[in-house]
Amino acid sequence: MIHSSLRTIEWKDNSVIMIDQTKLPSKLEFVKFTDFNDVANAIKTLVVRGAPAIGVSGAFGLALASIKSAAKTKDELLSDLKNAYKVLFETRPTAVNLVWALDKIITVAREGNDVAEIKNSIVEAAKKMAEDDVKTNMTMGKHGSELFNENDTIMTHCNAGALATVAYGTALGVIRATIESGKNIKVIATETRPVQQGSRLTAFELKHDGIDVDLIPDTAVGYVMANGLVNKVVVGADRILRTGHVFNKIGTYQIATMAKQHNIPFYIAAPLSTFDLKSNPKDVIIEQRNPAEVTTIGDKKTAPDDVGVINPAFDMTPPELITGIITEAGVAKPPYEESIKKLFKANK
Ligand code: MRU
Repeated sequence: MIHSSLRTIEWKDNSVIMIDQTKLPSKLEFVKFTDFNDVANAIKTLVVRGAPAIGVSGAFGLALASIKSAAKTKDELLSDLKNAYKVLFETRPTAVNLVWALDKIITVAREGNDVAEIKNSIVEAAKKMAEDDVKTNMTMGKHGSELFNENDTIMTHCNAGALATVAYGTALGVIRATIESGKNIKVIATETRPVQQGSRLTAFELKHDGIDVDLIPDTAVGYVMANGLVNKVVVGADRILRTGHVFNKIGTYQIATMAKQHNIPFYIAAPLSTFDLKSNPKDVIIEQRNPAEVTTIGDKKTAPDDVGVINPAFDMTPPELITGIITEAGVAKPPYEESIKKLFKANK
């Protein structure tokens, strides 16, 4: 069994332990937080990232806020949680798993009777959310593994692995499950400029677990596809709309377009907690990041001073470019408006 030994986030002795992903791939270091403000800062600065991991971090952040609260009444505790909710919610706007997780914890808090009971049930709910994330990824992986064949070379973008979830991963979970089912496959990881989640995190994670991976510059996607070096793509998602529009790491749209050009199946793997059934494409806020990510590499300046920079963290891939959306409830196929509705109905 190839179960990644990487556990991205964990609750231990009333504190949150996370892998510090800003240090990878040079160092595998862990950080410990007991204050929700530090968790919020960790989300903002990409110490922890990836939609499901951000969601669980938010839930643990609220658990820390509840433990630290000096509230004497339920109303006072709810007010403290509301403040923490705001700080955590404002960290990163695009991944819908964050608001999904925060809302779940607030519902648990509202249902409780007294302060001690609420504090305890929040911690238990956040811990369960983390455990469920791993189970969900493993189920998703099994569904996805049926779409991949012996000797496939699978391209992935960004990091949708153990490091983007509590463990196991979404897109990389599908790859893990395919290998666990006995198939021999290879992975091509894009470097994912400008923050390098592909080279720093995916290449690290797959090598850590002994999975065959080659790294390519983002600019080589067309070359690799045109030369028959890849025959399927699987990536994660930060937000999926009821229409099947998928928001994911910047560059995903280019890869999907190129895959269509070369008749290469393009799959998304994401849990139902990544779906936003209410929003329309124009409602989704795309996070804009620091220009320095584009004008420098490490400490080295790679662009002239004062150049204008456009640095969106995510883009939107339209449904017509997507072959299937793999979830824990099964695989949605076009037309997505219908198949997504069905998945949610079946999962009730
Ligand atoms: O900016 P990041 O690193 O948080 O972006 C992560 C992605 O875009 C992932 O592909 C997505 O969150 C899915 S993770 C299972």
